Amino acid sequence: MTPQTTPRALTDNPFTLGVASGDPLPDSVVLWTRLAPLPYEVGNGLPADGAVDVQWELASDESFRQVVQRGTVPAPAADNHTVHLDVRGLAPAATYWYRFRAGQWFSPVGRTRTAPAPDASVTGGARFGLLSCQQYDEGYYTALAHLAAEDLDAVFFVGDYIYENAINAQAGARNYTDRPLPDFFAHWTWNLDDYRLRYALGKSDPDLQAAHAAHPWYVTWDDHEVENNYAGDISQNNDPVDVFRARRAAAYRAYWENMPLREACRPNGPDALLYRRFQYGRLAQFDILDTRQYRSDQAYGDGWQYPGPETDDPARTLTGDEQERWLLDGFRASTARWNVIPQQVAFSRRKNTTADRSTLSMDAWDGYPASRERVLAGVRQAGIANLAVLSGDVHVHYAMDIKEDWDDPGSRTLGVEVVGTSVSSGFDGDERPDDWNLMLAANPHMKYYDGRRGYAVVSLDDTHLQADYRTLTGVLTPGAPVSTAARFVSEAGAPGFSAA
Ligand SMILES: [Fe+2]
Repeated sequence: MTPQTTPRALTDNPFTLGVASGDPLPDSVVLWTRLAPLPYEVGNGLPADGAVDVQWELASDESFRQVVQRGTVPAPAADNHTVHLDVRGLAPAATYWYRFRAGQWFSPVGRTRTAPAPDASVTGGARFGLLSCQQYDEGYYTALAHLAAEDLDAVFFVGDYIYENAINAQAGARNYTDRPLPDFFAHWTWNLDDYRLRYALGKSDPDLQAAHAAHPWYVTWDDHEVENNYAGDISQNNDPVDVFRARRAAAYRAYWENMPLREACRPNGPDALLYRRFQYGRLAQFDILDTRQYRSDQAYGDGWQYPGPETDDPARTLTGDEQERWLLDGFRASTARWNVIPQQVAFSRRKNTTADRSTLSMDAWDGYPASRERVLAGVRQAGIANLAVLSGDVHVHYAMDIKEDWDDPGSRTLGVEVVGTSVSSGFDGDERPDDWNLMLAANPHMKYYDGRRGYAVVSLDDTHLQADYRTLTGVLTPGAPVSTAARFVSEAGAPGFSAA
């Protein structure tokens, strides 16, 4: 018999890391929490085996007068005392509030929202947040506090939820007098305890908790959830494959534990099925990608390099064959107005010189041109009229048109790409980074570029997509105001961004 912690034994508040919801379906959403009376201790300050029973309730009003479902769910020690509750039987396009209870302790209240019914037209459209890259020691999560106050249907987080670097209390952007930084974090993440505690550190942030509590999130990872610039089984520094696969297994497990994901995404060792598809009424199909786990190694090194024969090798892939087939099949079957692809790295070509020959980012789709062309061939063949790629990774805002021929500005525009800037990675950033003029001149399909911190809001309706680029004055001190630095619109049926 496994030991069971009775909630009565919880002498300290276990809800130190907030609540979250995610992956909304028309009748279901995942509710998440983690019990951690001692969030910076291995094991959360709870018994190392068994489970803690957690009560939950979901209501149609914020004050829980109209409770529509309630129950009890275990927080297993094996899952680091996290709860992943797949609530079923909900109404479509409905807002709900939820909370957990353990012993005398109540969690914060979360708000969530289900997706519209598959055949529903989404009157009035829908609004989505786009987030990425929240390196804890490079800035405050002020962007997340502002995102929490937005009127959104859901949020896409497209990678770098944590970073694997050592965090030194004497360096970085944050003042650790507000929430002390234990010495534990002063080393790189390698094993399961390292990754679990790294999520505890990030999730202790009140702005991150507010952003999760305010909206359901659809999440995917990029590289830093494991290690910078890894490619499939190949680590940045070419560690032995078995060593890196063990690290990846630890990182994937901690990721799943700490995200509002369903059981279907739970990793099996170093493997996890994270790419997945959602219908958002007749308005949109979301194909959320994983461009890390199955990719070929970067050609000619990870940074900006001149492409060569290896770059163009059609055998190289960013998605892996299976995910690529799944994506193209999904295009063919799609009847949605918008085909939205939330994913990690910049999709559109980015030269950094006006000369014909330019170095390109080998870690982004530019380093895998054959893979990108197969996706775009699939878009054309399926007759996808309204393609929108949502990306992160580069810690800047871009608005880009996706071109049939990147070298011919007059060629057909196949869709638009919204690259959302980082929450905190890169410190304050600049409105116009050093290469601002050059990048805009070298890439005529790049309509906008801003190097500050923030997030994007993508609004969709039957007739247009609108991208609002929110920016902050800085993240080195808390409480910076947010403003809309630019707004771009693309008409349904006539893709291409123009300033609004
Ligand atoms: Fe990043």
